[in-house]
Amino acid sequence: MIRRAARSGRDVAVLLDDFGHRLPAVPAPPRAARDRGPFAELVPRRGPRGCGRGRAATPAPLSVWRMTSEQAPVVWPLIATSGLPPTGAQMGIDLLSGGAFYCDPVGWVTDEAIPVTNPNVVVFGKPGRGKSATVKAFALRMLGYGYRTLVLGDTKDEYEPLCRALGVEPFVVGPGLPARVNPLAFGPLGHGWDALDAAEARRREAVVFARWLVLIRGLVGSQAVPFGPVEETAVGEALRLLTGYRTAATRLTEPTIPRLWRALDEPPDELVACCRYADRRHFLDATRLLRDALGALVKGSLAGLFDDHTTVAVDWRAPIQSLSLSRLEPLGDSAVGIALTCLNSWGQAMREIADPGDLRIVIRDETWRQMRLGPEAMKSLDANLRLSRRDADVQMLLAHKPSDMLTAGDAASQAVAIARDLLHLCDVKVLHGQDQAVGDELGASLGLTPIAQRVVTGWAVAGKGRALWLVGDRAFQVQTVLTAPELRLTYTNEALTGGPA
Ligand SMILES: Nc1ncnc2c1ncn2[C@@H]1O[C@H](COP(=O)(O)OP(=O)(O)O)[C@@H](O)[C@H]1O
Ligand SMILES: [Mg+2]
Repeated sequence: MIRRAARSGRDVAVLLDDFGHRLPAVPAPPRAARDRGPFAELVPRRGPRGCGRGRAATPAPLSVWRMTSEQAPVVWPLIATSGLPPTGAQMGIDLLSGGAFYCDPVGWVTDEAIPVTNPNVVVFGKPGRGKSATVKAFALRMLGYGYRTLVLGDTKDEYEPLCRALGVEPFVVGPGLPARVNPLAFGPLGHGWDALDAAEARRREAVVFARWLVLIRGLVGSQAVPFGPVEETAVGEALRLLTGYRTAATRLTEPTIPRLWRALDEPPDELVACCRYADRRHFLDATRLLRDALGALVKGSLAGLFDDHTTVAVDWRAPIQSLSLSRLEPLGDSAVGIALTCLNSWGQAMREIADPGDLRIVIRDETWRQMRLGPEAMKSLDANLRLSRRDADVQMLLAHKPSDMLTAGDAASQAVAIARDLLHLCDVKVLHGQDQAVGDELGASLGLTPIAQRVVTGWAVAGKGRALWLVGDRAFQVQTVLTAPELRLTYTNEALTGGPA
């Protein structure tokens, strides 16, 4: 020891100690408790050792990329976007973030941070991929937030179990059945007409007549008959005459489509004069096509369904209302399309005076049937979607693929242009599984990136309820999770399996 001390010499502390000075000792650093973190032990690259523990004989090749966070989304465009707030219906799991996925279209519109300007939702997917089930689960889960649901045309009667579970008996419309719906109903705007001041009556008249004209134009247009200013004047004046508006009646009479047709077919002199025709013959010649188109509808597709005053008493405070249309199936696609157009107008009428906070989900399953009727039918749908912001309605359109909507006309036609616009009126798009060919189409019409397309044509095809949700420009890879009762209520395979779930 002494030798060692002699070799190293005295250090400063010992030297100062000889002179009676004590240097303060340096406190020993506290021993930091080791932060174990979420990973207790490192897993070797080839996986943990042991039987059945996932050990790979050869390690997976690693490719190393180095880039800035600004460049990363270009290479991996479907990288998880910032999440959505947990409001509205909890739909399932967002597989990109691993968190729960919530759907709240109206909430998204009111949130500045989310790039959504309208609450409309369009759902695409191959048949049987779970489009209807997703929408039903959404409607059911939004009930708790005060939303009511209106199913405008249930062409397969598949919403019936859901309605009955909520204690509501759906209306059944079909040939030979007593239920009638008048698409030319006044709706709530007609209430208390006699007490209205002139300005308000004029305003309401404009709204009601505009809606009627859109409907008649859609119906006549579905017969491939042009509907120009001549037809518009004739129909407008006939409706004014029928309702008593022209004679300034305090109580307006509700028109029906057969009455309108009769008024045009056997025009009173007053109508001929209002439309500025020299005589009856002149009027009849000018409106022949229009009259024949309406006549064909009155005797054909509309007969016994939409040709009289509404007989169903709809309880608008009920949690759900649905009109089952499967009985129309034997009458053909165009009959179903016409029924949907009529219901569209009727449903719109019922929403014309919506109380603030009266929130609705309007479901239009199998929308393509209406689209096929042509540009005019499409325009009436378009008008509804534009109004959804005002009415705080969540409009949900269900279709197989975007080109279904484009079948209304040839590529350069007005119908196709409207159909394209319709897609842009739906800021939320839910894309269920699709075949490869449709995937390319989605790329072209919705601007999907190749990686997003692969999610739709690959991952989403592999399971029911899997979908790519596009909320504005953000993408979410979502698996909708149904509870056991919901699975029973959404079961649509009876015809295939021969029994309920
Ligand atoms: N997320 C899901 N989990 C489990 N089963 C589902 C899911 N979504 C739908 N299904 C089932 O798949 C079947 C077809 O769904 P459906 O919604 O009718 O398809 P689509 O409307 O796309 O034709 C139904 O029996 C339904 O219960
Ligand atoms: Mg369906």
